[in-house]
Amino acid sequence: MTIEFKAAVFRSPNTPLTVETVSIPSTPPPGEVLVRIKASGLCHSDLHVIVGEWDGVPTPMVLGHEGAGVVEAVGVGVTHLEAGDHVVLSWTPSCGRCRYCVSGRPVLCDKAAEHSANHVSFDGGTRITSSDDEKVYSFAGLGTFGEYAMLPESAAIAVDPAAPFEQSALVGCAVTTGIGAVVNTAAIRPTDTVLIIGCGGVGLNAVQGARLVGARRIIAADISDRKLEQARLFGAHDVINTATEELSERIDQITGGRGVEVAVEAIGLPQTIEAAYGALARGGRAVVAGQVADGVTVSIDPFVMSDQELSLVGSNYGSSRPDIDFPNLVDHYLHRRIDLDSLVTRVIELGEINDGFEEMKRGNGIRTVITY
Ligand SMILES: NC(=O)c1ccc[n+]([C@@H]2O[C@H](COP(=O)([O-])OP(=O)(O)OC[C@H]3O[C@@H](n4cnc5c(N)ncnc54)[C@H](O)[C@@H]3O)[C@@H](O)[C@H]2O)c1
Ligand SMILES: [Zn+2]
Ligand SMILES: [Zn+2]
Repeated sequence: MTIEFKAAVFRSPNTPLTVETVSIPSTPPPGEVLVRIKASGLCHSDLHVIVGEWDGVPTPMVLGHEGAGVVEAVGVGVTHLEAGDHVVLSWTPSCGRCRYCVSGRPVLCDKAAEHSANHVSFDGGTRITSSDDEKVYSFAGLGTFGEYAMLPESAAIAVDPAAPFEQSALVGCAVTTGIGAVVNTAAIRPTDTVLIIGCGGVGLNAVQGARLVGARRIIAADISDRKLEQARLFGAHDVINTATEELSERIDQITGGRGVEVAVEAIGLPQTIEAAYGALARGGRAVVAGQVADGVTVSIDPFVMSDQELSLVGSNYGSSRPDIDFPNLVDHYLHRRIDLDSLVTRVIELGEINDGFEEMKRGNGIRTVITY
């Protein structure tokens, strides 16, 4: 038995996604769950694929990796979930056994690196079929731009059902990535001054992550005044429009020439990664959360790096542990310690998805969310 549903399918770069009827088995294989997706955010990582910045993405593929929904059915051997559970989806399911999983770094899991990063299930297969009987890949093994997804149990994390799906979906990427970059990867302290460059879905969450753990001073930079207004609402004390102001001059002014203890890059451009690193105080750490186009490199001075004990570190999924962090972030939202409502600036139907990405290209809005 199969279920037919609509999904937005990526067939080739720089062409609109096509909304097609596809199908999925109604009974999950052992260890997997069938999720009925209720909401999915549009993330810039999907846009990287759509505009052809990331090579080697197999097609056809249902994009989307920032989702929440309800467990529809569970396969044999699934022990942590049951039908009816409200779940946020993780694009790094984990095996629980490899050296990364057992050392508390599940987003680096061997199985996720081998399979989810290649957009296939843990057995190497796909679960969705097109109306022409082609096998269809699912982005990061999720594919949230369609109403159903089949996932390993570890990719669906139960959260408090009191949270609306539009908001909890964002925990599946932007919220966990942004908050995690400052809280987990940078492990900021209340004495730290933090700079966040790029105030989109990921960056604004880095701002509110810094506020959540009480950073001493939070500085936000972007090229859009509207994004910077939002950054103030999410907790930034100082804002810098780098289209009109010199970043290094303003950082010197604000920090008395010392620089910042932590800088987070949340765009994915070489010049802003270098600017984040260049803004550091001695002993500071720059976190790269933004993801660059294929082939991009950055240049740093290794003498200064050693002399000043600077760190440049990557952050994947906010160095999170989704099993702990997703329910935790949803609880912080329900207790009004983080704001997910203001992140959702537009709610659309699946058929409007291409327009949603055009708006992202123009830098409009924070998160557009599809509801099914
Ligand atoms: N590391 C991870 O695990 C992870 C997870 C999700 C997303 N990402 C990446 O994070 C990046 C941001 O994603 P997003 O969804 O927040 O994107 P977004 O499009 O919502 O936001 C990007 C922001 O950067 C600003 N910006 C663009 N060019 C700039 C410049 N030159 N200087 C200053 N600001 C500039 C834009 O105005 C916008 O506010 C993307 O590269 C995405 O792929 C990484
Ligand atoms: Zn994302
Ligand atoms: Zn593992």
